[in-house]
Amino acid sequence: MNIQEAFDRMDYGPAPESDGPAREWIARHGPKLRHFIDGGWQAPKSRKWFESVNPADGKTLCEIADGGQKDVDAAVAAARAAQGAWAKLSGHRRARHLYALARMVQRHSRLLAVLESIDNGKPIRETRDIDVPLVARHFYHHAGWAQLAASEFPGHGPLGVVGQIIPWNFPLLMLAWKVAPALAAGNTVVLKPAEFTSLTALAFAEFAHAAGLPAGVLNVVTGGGETGEAIVRHGDVDKIAFTGSTEIGRRIRALTAGSGKHLTLELGGKSPFIVFDDADLDGAVEGIVDAIWFNQGQVCCAGSRLLVQEGIAERLIARLRARMDTLRVGAPLDKSIDIGAIVAPVQLARIRKLVEIGRAEGAEMYQPEGAAPREGCFYPPTLFTNVHPASTIAREEIFGPVLVTMTFRTPDEAVALANNTAYGLAASVWSENVNLTLDVAPKLKCGVVWINSTNQFDAAAGFGGYRESGYGREGGREGMYEYLAPVWAHKLPPVAAPAIAPATGEASVSAVETIDRTAKLYVGGKQARPDSGYSRRVFAPDGRPVGEVGEGNRKDIRNAVEVARKAGGWSSATAHNRAQVLYYMAENLDARTNEFARRIMAQTGASLARARREVTAATTRLFTYAAWADKYDGAVHSAPVRDVTLAMNEPLGVIGIACPDEAPLLGFLSLAAPAIAMGNRVVAIPSPSAPLAATDFYQVLDTSDLPGGVLNIVTGDRNGLATVLAEHDDVEAVWYFGDAEGSAAVERASTGNLKRTWVNNGRARDWYNPEQAEGHEFLRQATQVKNIWVPYGE
Ligand code: NAI
Repeated sequence: MNIQEAFDRMDYGPAPESDGPAREWIARHGPKLRHFIDGGWQAPKSRKWFESVNPADGKTLCEIADGGQKDVDAAVAAARAAQGAWAKLSGHRRARHLYALARMVQRHSRLLAVLESIDNGKPIRETRDIDVPLVARHFYHHAGWAQLAASEFPGHGPLGVVGQIIPWNFPLLMLAWKVAPALAAGNTVVLKPAEFTSLTALAFAEFAHAAGLPAGVLNVVTGGGETGEAIVRHGDVDKIAFTGSTEIGRRIRALTAGSGKHLTLELGGKSPFIVFDDADLDGAVEGIVDAIWFNQGQVCCAGSRLLVQEGIAERLIARLRARMDTLRVGAPLDKSIDIGAIVAPVQLARIRKLVEIGRAEGAEMYQPEGAAPREGCFYPPTLFTNVHPASTIAREEIFGPVLVTMTFRTPDEAVALANNTAYGLAASVWSENVNLTLDVAPKLKCGVVWINSTNQFDAAAGFGGYRESGYGREGGREGMYEYLAPVWAHKLPPVAAPAIAPATGEASVSAVETIDRTAKLYVGGKQARPDSGYSRRVFAPDGRPVGEVGEGNRKDIRNAVEVARKAGGWSSATAHNRAQVLYYMAENLDARTNEFARRIMAQTGASLARARREVTAATTRLFTYAAWADKYDGAVHSAPVRDVTLAMNEPLGVIGIACPDEAPLLGFLSLAAPAIAMGNRVVAIPSPSAPLAATDFYQVLDTSDLPGGVLNIVTGDRNGLATVLAEHDDVEAVWYFGDAEGSAAVERASTGNLKRTWVNNGRARDWYNPEQAEGHEFLRQATQVKNIWVPYGE
């Protein structure tokens, strides 16, 4: 071919990267690669190994240790032994270590990029230009958090030993997202990479040790699901951080329920990519390429559902097909390749199966002719049109280079389609009308929204999902909190059993002098009789009955959730308006201090002075959250690209709250007030031993302009009702402050829909102590951060 012909055809020649240094590194440590535990290589006590394969050519790269229980024990023991000294280092010393890790990543950047590429099959262009630079950026950013920890997270300390289980789609980047904040906060780590992609984690651990990281601070145990499960079950692990499939996330939630382990889950997605008819179509096409064909579509936040406004659908699809024809699929180490290999034959089979289902369901498929090599683990870019929103391929995460397309007419329809998924990880919105994009972004139920862009990540901007995409955030300040706890939290005493065990009874106590009436439930701003027709007696500590409340059941909870769900106007009310209502509630409670104090006395046996103190503290707490209502603002991050990232604190929606016994009125309001102040609607279950202060509160609510349905109160068996709330699909979160059994039951019941939970593990807070009972922890629990990326410039 002469030069003229080459220019005419504009074909790419192969530009292969050498894998020599990466293979040398493997050879130096292999052919069997051991665990990296306590600062050195350790052969598996299990004596088991498995093969690690290069998906691009199907050839074995090396053997990897298959960790058993004893290997996990050794790693956890090493992490535990190292944790005290690591946590005692000054923030500055830890910052120096994290800084050294960032520098180390840069020093070894090419080796890490090539290792990643041959192990995972992703294009070297991506590992070199995206994954590895983001890894370094993450450690730099978190060196900063270590440096500032004492001043920015006062009164907080590390959780202890953290078990981290990561997937194969971004092996080294997921390591960085997990390890950097954990170490910055003073935790030590046992990390298990995915069985398909262990190499860069092992190399990282070795290089980190050489860069001065003390032995035991970062331990890497390799293996498959069983190894992961041994970490999850280990009794000396304080937190599990998991990224992977929703199915395994559920299993981990079930296994850790009631164990007291902290848990964050970053799970799957089926993220919408919304294109309005005034979008820059060429820009949108490039965005789609990035959204679904980056990393072979094996991205948890991949824009895998293309939603196009009807009028431009034909034009956009035509341009997209033309662009698909130019995508190059092939050898990952070829620098001119767009799409590399699928991670493993099992994943390829999964993609093929879902594509077959899509075709069988009547969707129309487009794949560029001859796009992918016939041999090896490759799959061509694939586009489905004529897709029904209820079809399998529109609902299930395919985790491959497969895009499904649907159309919409109006912005409302776009939002409804976008939210029509069990997931809620990310979304892209394309329009030249910034007003429209900023109107749509807050309505999308997901953790990240990219405007006229996609798949943007930065260590300063938290990443994480809503709903079945998991909970917890990685990156930024919110990500640091996932690895910290207030120092007093370790020292809380167990909750005391109420002096008199609450009993249900049909017998009326109306003959007893002290009784005035039976309190009903409070649902939708009105008093409601319990569905059961039963009531439960409330006793004073000396055994005298002091009143009766309704015996709420499953149906009452369902009714309360339904009205709470309908009271969505509260979430969009202005913060000023919410503050006004809370001030008004405080004012009305204050006016009834003596009445409430007497009620508390009768139920708890407290002195009048003590009971008055509780009411006064409750009034003060309402003031606190009236104050916070218009001050718990988000943040604006300046990401290194030409974007501003708006981190918005959004309400969760409907929160179920099971209130503590310790201080029946103060505990109830310490929890309900922050939830309401942040725009949530609440279904509260008052203390079963002393519910009358909460039921008396109906009168305060009736006179305080709180819209009906915002705060609903259902009395009855706390653990039973809290479990119903935890199982309910229309409740976004459950807070539980009863006993240890109830905490475990709520966590277990939340497994089905992966609801966010906040439980006390049977530990009693001091509700009078503002450090334990109000402020940022409560506001954080009442909100979730949504990061909206807004580009600027030409
Ligand atoms: P997976 O969820 O099984 O694996 C993720 C990690 O969890 C791996 O390190 C694995 O060894 C570990 N693991 C597996 N079973 C475990 C258990 N019982 N206890 C503790 N750890 C356990 O994901 P897999 O099988 O590799 O991929 C299956 C599907 O999951 C994909 O097709 C994709 O749809 C989804 N996925 C989603 C990811 C995301 O980032 N959202 C990442 C990886 C997979």
